[in-house]
Amino acid sequence: MELVTDIVPLRNRLSKESSVAFVPTMGNLHEGHLSLVETAQQRADCTVVSIFVNQLQFSPTEDYGQYPRTLEKDCSLLKDMDVDVVFIPDKQTLYPEPQEFLLMLPPVAHILEGKFRPGFFRGVTTVVLKLLNIVQPQKVIFGKKDYQQFYIVDKMVKQLNLPIEIIACDTVRMHDGLAQSSRNCYLNKNQRFESVRLYQSLHQIKRSIEEGNKNFKMLQDDVIKKMIQHNWNIDYITIQQRNTLEPATVNDKELIVLGAAWLGDTRLIDNMEIHI
Ligand code: PAF
Repeated sequence: MELVTDIVPLRNRLSKESSVAFVPTMGNLHEGHLSLVETAQQRADCTVVSIFVNQLQFSPTEDYGQYPRTLEKDCSLLKDMDVDVVFIPDKQTLYPEPQEFLLMLPPVAHILEGKFRPGFFRGVTTVVLKLLNIVQPQKVIFGKKDYQQFYIVDKMVKQLNLPIEIIACDTVRMHDGLAQSSRNCYLNKNQRFESVRLYQSLHQIKRSIEEGNKNFKMLQDDVIKKMIQHNWNIDYITIQQRNTLEPATVNDKELIVLGAAWLGDTRLIDNMEIHI
């Protein structure tokens, strides 16, 4: 495994590869990331993982400063998986001058996560586009836990004609259903116990819809009420059309229920696809 910190050596190293699959991350790797790496390895000869905590996607009130940085452990995990190249740029390498060119994002970037985290998708799309231009992979792998992120990056890749296949991988969960996330490490023991309620709530909605219940508002309101009783602060729990991320209507067949909620100071997100 090679560790590369600069753009020119990275391009030189990759120039001899016929197919490259790329997994962009912010580090603090967990089983979810490792499943993305496994997919990358199955889909190309050379796998590149980037580790970069991208300040541009954090608002000033968010956890950029305290975001877990576990570089040594991450590299050891990637080495065990026999990853070919780990790209670890610093801020100066990715943003040598103020980033003045930014994408104008579509309305879908201003709902759900975009509504509660203004600037988030602008930061994500900017860094992902830069990383894709730097790595120039044939394939890029994203997890569906951040479904809206995958959806927006997929649209960006298609609408900007990047010659890259985007591959989405299923969410990896803990034994009790909690989605694997770098932010789970913020949870104390009681919160960790309670955290599974987000998964259970989304699952309850999914099951009810699959059983024929189409009263989406009631389904959403019921779980929100229950979660609030258990001290959650809800940003959203909502049933949307999967192919547009617009609110679902009773005639839609491909749905997704998405949720974001706070337990104490920790914000958790999750989603579940629903087919009826
Ligand atoms: O999902 C993440 O970890 C980040 O948003 C990403 C895609 C690596 C961009 O910084």
